[in-house]
Amino acid sequence: MRLLALSNTEVRIFTDAPALSRAAADEFTRAAGDAVSKRGPFTVALAGGSTPKSIYSLLAADEAGSTNGLPWPQIHVFFGDERCVPPDHPDSNFRMASEALLRKVPIPSANIHRIRAELEAPAAAAEYEAELKSFFALRAGEFPRFDLIMLGLGTDGHTASLFPHTAALQVTSRLVCANQVPQLNVRRVTLTFPVLNAAAAVLFVVSGREKAEMLRHILQGDDSGRQYPAQAVRPAPGHLLWMVDEAAASQLAQSFREGEKYQKQEQK
Ligand code: 6PG
Repeated sequence: MRLLALSNTEVRIFTDAPALSRAAADEFTRAAGDAVSKRGPFTVALAGGSTPKSIYSLLAADEAGSTNGLPWPQIHVFFGDERCVPPDHPDSNFRMASEALLRKVPIPSANIHRIRAELEAPAAAAEYEAELKSFFALRAGEFPRFDLIMLGLGTDGHTASLFPHTAALQVTSRLVCANQVPQLNVRRVTLTFPVLNAAAAVLFVVSGREKAEMLRHILQGDDSGRQYPAQAVRPAPGHLLWMVDEAAASQLAQSFREGEKYQKQEQK
Protein backbone atom coordinates (compact mmCIF):
# COMPACT_ATOMS: atom_id res chain seq x y z
CA MET A 1 0.00 0.00 0.00
CA ARG A 2 1.42 3.42 -0.86
CA LEU A 3 0.22 6.53 0.85
CA LEU A 4 0.21 9.92 -0.80
CA ALA A 5 -1.00 12.73 1.37
CA LEU A 6 -1.98 16.34 0.71
CA SER A 7 -3.50 18.55 3.39
CA ASN A 8 -6.95 16.99 3.84
CA THR A 9 -6.67 14.63 0.85
CA GLU A 10 -5.09 11.22 0.95
CA VAL A 11 -4.57 8.74 -1.87
CA ARG A 12 -3.90 5.15 -0.86
CA ILE A 13 -2.97 2.70 -3.62
CA PHE A 14 -3.43 -1.04 -3.10
CA THR A 15 -2.06 -3.93 -5.11
CA ASP A 16 -5.39 -5.36 -6.24
CA ALA A 17 -9.17 -5.28 -5.71
CA PRO A 18 -9.21 -7.74 -2.78
CA ALA A 19 -6.57 -5.74 -0.92
CA LEU A 20 -8.51 -2.56 -1.67
CA SER A 21 -11.79 -4.04 -0.38
CA ARG A 22 -10.13 -5.32 2.78
CA ALA A 23 -8.58 -1.92 3.49
CA ALA A 24 -11.85 -0.10 2.80
CA ALA A 25 -13.72 -2.43 5.17
CA ASP A 26 -11.07 -1.76 7.82
CA GLU A 27 -11.45 1.99 7.28
CA PHE A 28 -15.22 1.69 7.74
CA THR A 29 -14.64 -0.28 10.97
CA ARG A 30 -12.10 2.26 12.22
CA ALA A 31 -14.40 5.21 11.47
CA ALA A 32 -17.38 3.52 13.09
CA GLY A 33 -15.47 2.65 16.26
CA ASP A 34 -14.01 6.14 16.46
CA ALA A 35 -17.37 7.88 16.03
CA VAL A 36 -19.20 5.70 18.53
CA SER A 37 -16.46 5.98 21.15
CA LYS A 38 -16.32 9.77 20.81
CA ARG A 39 -19.83 10.92 19.99
CA GLY A 40 -22.48 8.22 20.06
CA PRO A 41 -24.05 7.40 16.71
CA PHE A 42 -21.98 6.68 13.59
CA THR A 43 -23.75 8.09 10.55
CA VAL A 44 -22.66 6.68 7.20
CA ALA A 45 -24.00 7.06 3.67
CA LEU A 46 -23.27 3.95 1.62
CA ALA A 47 -22.15 4.01 -2.00
CA GLY A 48 -24.06 2.12 -4.67
CA GLY A 49 -22.86 0.37 -7.79
CA SER A 50 -20.75 -2.79 -7.87
CA THR A 51 -17.40 -1.82 -6.33
CA PRO A 52 -18.61 -1.54 -2.72
CA LYS A 53 -20.40 -4.93 -2.69
CA SER A 54 -17.22 -6.81 -1.74
CA ILE A 55 -16.54 -4.27 1.01
CA TYR A 56 -19.99 -4.80 2.47
CA SER A 57 -19.58 -8.59 2.24
CA LEU A 58 -16.30 -8.37 4.15
CA LEU A 59 -17.98 -6.31 6.88
CA ALA A 60 -20.68 -8.97 7.17
CA ALA A 61 -18.04 -11.73 7.33
CA ASP A 62 -16.12 -9.78 9.98
CA GLU A 63 -19.29 -9.62 12.05
CA ALA A 64 -19.97 -13.33 11.66
CA GLY A 65 -16.44 -14.18 12.68
CA SER A 66 -16.17 -11.97 15.73
CA THR A 67 -17.44 -12.15 19.28
CA ASN A 68 -17.72 -8.39 19.70
CA GLY A 69 -18.36 -6.91 16.28
CA LEU A 70 -19.25 -3.37 15.32
CA PRO A 71 -21.66 -1.40 17.56
CA TRP A 72 -24.54 -1.81 15.09
CA PRO A 73 -27.22 -0.38 17.45
CA GLN A 74 -25.26 2.92 17.27
CA ILE A 75 -24.72 2.79 13.51
CA HIS A 76 -27.15 4.63 11.20
CA VAL A 77 -26.95 3.70 7.54
CA PHE A 78 -28.07 6.08 4.83
CA PHE A 79 -27.59 5.99 1.04
CA GLY A 80 -25.73 8.40 -1.19
CA ASP A 81 -28.14 7.80 -4.02
CA GLU A 82 -30.73 5.40 -5.33
CA ARG A 83 -32.05 4.22 -8.62
CA CYS A 84 -35.79 4.83 -9.19
CA VAL A 85 -36.80 1.21 -8.75
CA PRO A 86 -38.46 -0.84 -5.98
CA PRO A 87 -36.22 -1.96 -3.11
CA ASP A 88 -36.24 -5.57 -4.33
CA HIS A 89 -35.21 -4.65 -7.90
CA PRO A 90 -31.82 -5.98 -9.11
CA ASP A 91 -30.69 -2.39 -9.76
CA SER A 92 -31.54 -1.18 -6.25
CA ASN A 93 -28.57 0.05 -4.21
CA PHE A 94 -30.59 -0.75 -1.11
CA ARG A 95 -31.07 -4.34 -2.26
CA MET A 96 -27.33 -4.70 -2.97
CA ALA A 97 -26.37 -3.37 0.47
CA SER A 98 -29.06 -5.46 2.19
CA GLU A 99 -28.01 -8.71 0.57
CA ALA A 100 -24.29 -8.09 1.12
CA LEU A 101 -24.43 -6.58 4.60
CA LEU A 102 -27.55 -5.22 6.26
CA ARG A 103 -29.47 -8.51 6.51
CA LYS A 104 -26.38 -10.17 7.98
CA VAL A 105 -25.61 -7.85 10.88
CA PRO A 106 -27.62 -6.92 14.01
CA ILE A 107 -28.49 -3.40 12.88
CA PRO A 108 -31.94 -2.29 14.07
CA SER A 109 -34.29 -1.74 11.12
CA ALA A 110 -34.94 1.79 12.39
CA ASN A 111 -31.24 2.52 11.78
CA ILE A 112 -31.51 1.76 8.07
CA HIS A 113 -32.61 4.94 6.31
CA ARG A 114 -33.65 3.84 2.84
CA ILE A 115 -34.44 6.21 -0.01
CA ARG A 116 -37.97 5.17 -1.05
CA ALA A 117 -37.17 5.54 -4.72
CA GLU A 118 -40.14 3.47 -5.74
CA LEU A 119 -42.04 6.74 -5.29
CA GLU A 120 -41.98 9.45 -7.95
CA ALA A 121 -38.40 10.78 -7.84
CA PRO A 122 -39.25 14.30 -6.61
CA ALA A 123 -41.43 12.86 -3.83
CA ALA A 124 -38.72 10.36 -2.85
CA ALA A 125 -36.16 13.17 -2.72
CA ALA A 126 -38.41 15.41 -0.64
CA GLU A 127 -39.19 12.60 1.78
CA TYR A 128 -35.50 11.70 2.20
CA GLU A 129 -34.56 15.33 2.68
CA ALA A 130 -37.17 15.60 5.44
CA GLU A 131 -35.74 12.48 7.06
CA LEU A 132 -32.23 13.94 7.03
CA LYS A 133 -33.46 17.25 8.46
CA SER A 134 -35.28 15.40 11.23
CA PHE A 135 -32.52 12.92 12.06
CA PHE A 136 -29.76 15.54 12.11
CA ALA A 137 -32.06 18.13 13.77
CA LEU A 138 -31.14 20.67 11.11
CA ARG A 139 -32.15 24.31 11.15
CA ALA A 140 -33.03 26.11 7.90
CA GLY A 141 -29.97 26.34 5.63
CA GLU A 142 -27.98 23.72 7.55
CA PHE A 143 -26.49 20.60 6.02
CA PRO A 144 -26.00 17.23 7.76
CA ARG A 145 -22.47 16.33 8.82
CA PHE A 146 -22.19 12.62 8.09
CA ASP A 147 -19.33 10.88 9.88
CA LEU A 148 -18.58 9.07 6.63
CA ILE A 149 -19.85 9.20 3.06
CA MET A 150 -18.70 6.38 0.79
CA LEU A 151 -18.58 7.11 -2.92
CA GLY A 152 -17.68 5.41 -6.17
CA LEU A 153 -16.43 6.93 -9.41
CA GLY A 154 -17.93 6.42 -12.85
CA THR A 155 -15.78 6.36 -15.98
CA ASP A 156 -17.47 9.65 -16.93
CA GLY A 157 -16.48 11.25 -13.63
CA HIS A 158 -19.87 10.96 -11.94
CA THR A 159 -20.27 10.11 -8.31
CA ALA A 160 -23.42 9.22 -6.42
CA SER A 161 -25.98 10.17 -9.08
CA LEU A 162 -24.30 13.48 -9.87
CA PHE A 163 -23.70 12.89 -13.57
CA PRO A 164 -21.99 15.27 -16.02
CA HIS A 165 -24.29 17.87 -17.62
CA THR A 166 -27.24 17.08 -15.33
CA ALA A 167 -29.33 19.51 -13.31
CA ALA A 168 -28.37 18.08 -9.92
CA LEU A 169 -24.85 19.46 -10.32
CA GLN A 170 -26.24 22.97 -9.84
CA VAL A 171 -28.39 22.19 -6.79
CA THR A 172 -26.96 23.93 -3.75
CA SER A 173 -30.04 24.70 -1.64
CA ARG A 174 -31.33 21.14 -1.25
CA LEU A 175 -29.97 18.15 0.63
CA VAL A 176 -31.45 15.60 -1.77
CA CYS A 177 -32.78 15.94 -5.28
CA ALA A 178 -34.23 13.98 -8.17
CA ASN A 179 -31.96 13.91 -11.19
CA GLN A 180 -32.84 13.11 -14.79
CA VAL A 181 -29.86 11.32 -16.39
CA PRO A 182 -30.36 11.50 -20.19
CA GLN A 183 -27.17 9.57 -20.93
CA LEU A 184 -28.69 6.55 -19.15
CA ASN A 185 -32.32 7.49 -19.84
CA VAL A 186 -33.09 7.07 -16.14
CA ARG A 187 -34.11 9.15 -13.14
CA ARG A 188 -32.16 8.93 -9.91
CA VAL A 189 -32.38 10.34 -6.39
CA THR A 190 -29.11 11.69 -5.01
CA LEU A 191 -27.48 13.56 -2.16
CA THR A 192 -26.30 16.95 -3.38
CA PHE A 193 -22.79 18.40 -3.39
CA PRO A 194 -23.36 20.53 -0.26
CA VAL A 195 -24.17 17.36 1.69
CA LEU A 196 -21.15 15.49 0.34
CA ASN A 197 -18.92 18.45 1.16
CA ALA A 198 -20.30 18.85 4.68
CA ALA A 199 -19.18 15.34 5.67
CA ALA A 200 -16.51 14.76 8.30
CA ALA A 201 -14.99 12.23 5.92
CA VAL A 202 -15.54 11.15 2.32
CA LEU A 203 -14.14 7.84 1.14
CA PHE A 204 -13.88 7.18 -2.60
CA VAL A 205 -13.25 3.53 -3.51
CA VAL A 206 -12.09 3.06 -7.11
CA SER A 207 -11.05 -0.20 -8.73
CA GLY A 208 -10.15 -1.31 -12.23
CA ARG A 209 -8.24 -0.20 -15.27
CA GLU A 210 -11.40 1.23 -16.86
CA LYS A 211 -11.34 3.97 -14.20
CA ALA A 212 -7.65 4.85 -14.68
CA GLU A 213 -8.05 7.68 -17.19
CA MET A 214 -10.80 9.37 -15.20
CA LEU A 215 -8.90 8.95 -11.95
CA ARG A 216 -5.93 10.70 -13.55
CA HIS A 217 -8.20 13.59 -14.60
CA ILE A 218 -9.73 13.81 -11.14
CA LEU A 219 -6.54 13.60 -9.09
CA GLN A 220 -4.07 15.29 -11.41
CA GLY A 221 -6.39 17.64 -13.23
CA ASP A 222 -5.86 18.11 -16.92
CA ASP A 223 -5.15 21.03 -19.21
CA SER A 224 -8.60 20.77 -20.82
CA GLY A 225 -10.04 22.73 -17.94
CA ARG A 226 -12.92 20.29 -18.06
CA GLN A 227 -14.58 19.73 -14.72
CA TYR A 228 -15.88 16.32 -13.72
CA PRO A 229 -18.51 15.94 -10.97
CA ALA A 230 -16.22 13.98 -8.65
CA GLN A 231 -13.76 16.92 -8.70
CA ALA A 232 -16.37 19.02 -6.92
CA VAL A 233 -16.29 16.72 -3.89
CA ARG A 234 -14.06 18.73 -1.57
CA PRO A 235 -15.19 18.20 2.02
CA ALA A 236 -13.79 21.08 4.04
CA PRO A 237 -12.74 20.85 6.74
CA GLY A 238 -13.59 17.18 6.32
CA HIS A 239 -11.13 14.51 5.22
CA LEU A 240 -11.06 13.20 1.64
CA LEU A 241 -9.64 9.71 1.26
CA TRP A 242 -9.19 7.97 -2.11
CA MET A 243 -8.62 4.22 -1.81
CA VAL A 244 -7.74 2.81 -5.22
CA ASP A 245 -6.11 -0.29 -6.65
CA GLU A 246 -3.04 -0.30 -8.89
CA ALA A 247 -5.17 -0.90 -11.98
CA ALA A 248 -7.19 2.27 -11.34
CA ALA A 249 -3.99 4.13 -10.45
CA SER A 250 -2.13 2.90 -13.54
CA GLN A 251 -2.32 6.25 -15.36
CA LEU A 252 -1.23 8.41 -12.45
CA ALA A 253 2.00 10.09 -13.50
CA GLN A 254 5.19 9.12 -11.72
CA SER A 255 5.64 12.84 -11.04
CA PHE A 256 2.24 12.86 -9.32
CA ARG A 257 3.32 10.04 -7.09
CA GLU A 258 6.49 11.87 -6.18
CA GLY A 259 5.36 15.48 -6.61
CA GLU A 260 6.01 18.07 -3.96
CA LYS A 261 2.37 18.18 -3.01
CA TYR A 262 2.29 14.55 -1.98
CA GLN A 263 4.57 12.87 0.46
CA LYS A 264 4.99 9.29 -0.68
CA GLN A 265 5.23 6.95 2.26
CA GLU A 266 6.10 3.32 1.71
CA GLN A 267 4.09 0.84 3.77
CA LYS A 268 5.67 0.54 7.18
C1 6PG B 1 -24.62 4.09 -8.33
C2 6PG B 1 -23.49 4.81 -7.64
C3 6PG B 1 -22.51 5.30 -8.66
C4 6PG B 1 -21.34 4.34 -8.64
C5 6PG B 1 -20.44 4.57 -9.83
C6 6PG B 1 -19.35 3.49 -9.87
O1 6PG B 1 -25.76 4.19 -7.88
O2 6PG B 1 -24.31 3.38 -9.30
O3 6PG B 1 -23.93 5.77 -6.83
O4 6PG B 1 -22.06 6.61 -8.42
O5 6PG B 1 -20.60 4.53 -7.43
O6 6PG B 1 -21.25 4.47 -10.99
O7 6PG B 1 -20.01 2.25 -10.02
P1 6PG B 1 -19.20 0.86 -10.00
O8 6PG B 1 -18.71 0.68 -8.61
O9 6PG B 1 -20.25 -0.16 -10.38
O10 6PG B 1 -18.09 0.99 -10.99
